[in-house]
Amino acid sequence: MAMLKIVKFPDPFLKRKCKPVDKMDARIPKLIEDMAETMYASSGIGLAAIQVGVDQRIIVFDTTEENKERSFLELINPEIIKMEGSCVSEEEGCLSVPDFKSNVKRAKSIVVQGLDRNGKKKTLSYNDLRAIVIQHEVDHLNGILFIDRISSLKRELYKRSIKKQIKNS
Ligand code: NI
Repeated sequence: MAMLKIVKFPDPFLKRKCKPVDKMDARIPKLIEDMAETMYASSGIGLAAIQVGVDQRIIVFDTTEENKERSFLELINPEIIKMEGSCVSEEEGCLSVPDFKSNVKRAKSIVVQGLDRNGKKKTLSYNDLRAIVIQHEVDHLNGILFIDRISSLKRELYKRSIKKQIKNS
């Protein structure tokens, strides 16, 4: 396994709409393993392939609480087929959006379909945190970051602080 470099805002690569995986070759399980390692090493609870420089529709996630047994899952070509209710995702963050957190409005429950690395079809129903993580990761596959879902004022403040950081580094 290998730790991958995380692509960070404002890299325009993150705005790409990712391509579906149409062939399950040996690169896919390897990429998923590396994404898992990268996610755990960064203390993330979800990661999309685009965040490690691969513009294909693959996400991984594990929302297990600390010190509990891991429950790692991957979804290839995930599609949210149902969204219900609404909730506030409190202090949402993203490994590609450093040093920033914000409340985001999300659906409370979702049903998502996709494939695992063996090509087996999965249909999963989630509420609350897991539903939020899936919505966040599927957004990545469509070139959307959580900061695209907050008020433009807050977003501009963040962009300005990042630009300043880049200039000063
Ligand atoms: Ni993210």
